[in-house]
Amino acid sequence: MNFTGKIALVVGGTRGIGFNVSQKLIEAGCICYITGRNEDDGLTAQSRLGERCTFIKSDVTDEASVAELFRTIEARHGRLDLAVNNAGVTSKHAPIRDMDFADWKRVLEINLLGPLLLLKHQTNLISKHPGGSIVNVSSCAGLLGVARQSAYSTSKAALNMLTQVCAIECAEAALPERHPIRVNAVCPGPTMGGMNSQERLDANPESTRHKLSVTVMKRFADPSEISAAILWLLSDASSFVTGAVMPVDGGFSAGKF
Ligand SMILES: NC(=O)c1ccc[n+]([C@@H]2O[C@H](COP(=O)([O-])OP(=O)(O)OC[C@H]3O[C@@H](n4cnc5c(N)ncnc54)[C@H](OP(=O)(O)O)[C@@H]3O)[C@@H](O)[C@H]2O)c1
Repeated sequence: MNFTGKIALVVGGTRGIGFNVSQKLIEAGCICYITGRNEDDGLTAQSRLGERCTFIKSDVTDEASVAELFRTIEARHGRLDLAVNNAGVTSKHAPIRDMDFADWKRVLEINLLGPLLLLKHQTNLISKHPGGSIVNVSSCAGLLGVARQSAYSTSKAALNMLTQVCAIECAEAALPERHPIRVNAVCPGPTMGGMNSQERLDANPESTRHKLSVTVMKRFADPSEISAAILWLLSDASSFVTGAVMPVDGGFSAGKF
């Protein structure tokens, strides 16, 4: 896949799936911006990713920092071609009867309102040039309910709908000087690293066994298997695909088994 000269933004690109996507985009020729809240992690990721990577500290729940992020990219390049909205967090494990309202609001703010704010800025900037593509990183937990993860499951289900609405709006040239953008989502299944670091898996053996059992393939994904789907959706190889909510979940959503 060739993305030479494309300007890409990976929100939440400092570790896990987002880091892997950024690495693949840079290898394919992109100039890549990555974001996150933790500056040390961001600068470490930037130096690992090399000179075509720039880290900008930005929190998706902070409107001013999100606006500043897009002002910076526009001032430097006058354009943005590709965006991956990957930042996301899980909720506390608890049934709804014991839910922590503040935790629910935190998860919705990061996983749903964050992408909404990002899409507002992205659709304005990306549509200035042809060939734009956006991928939201959702979850298989947004396709089927996951008990004790009500906030997470709900936030990702809503993100899937937001993806579809945005795809419809961006397929039409809203203004004569605007260009269409394809907007899709991937729904990963349990993936190694990040939320499933070896340390976390070892500390929670029962939940690890459960996560392994819920995919048909009985294994975790490697982050590169999620990135491969994201890069395909970003590329011209998927030129007739928009509004898709694509499971990349080892068969998790294929049925009950
Ligand atoms: N790993 C899995 O098994 C799995 C399965 C299904 C779906 N997913 C989805 O895939 C995405 C990535 O998961 P992951 O496991 O790779 O996560 P991760 O390793 O925890 O990385 C999350 C990234 O998002 C950033 N981030 C978190 N909150 C943010 C905020 N408020 N503003 C800006 N950046 C923020 C983090 O940096 P800072 O903490 O420094 O901000 C980090 O760069 C998430 O959306 C997740 O829901 C993951």
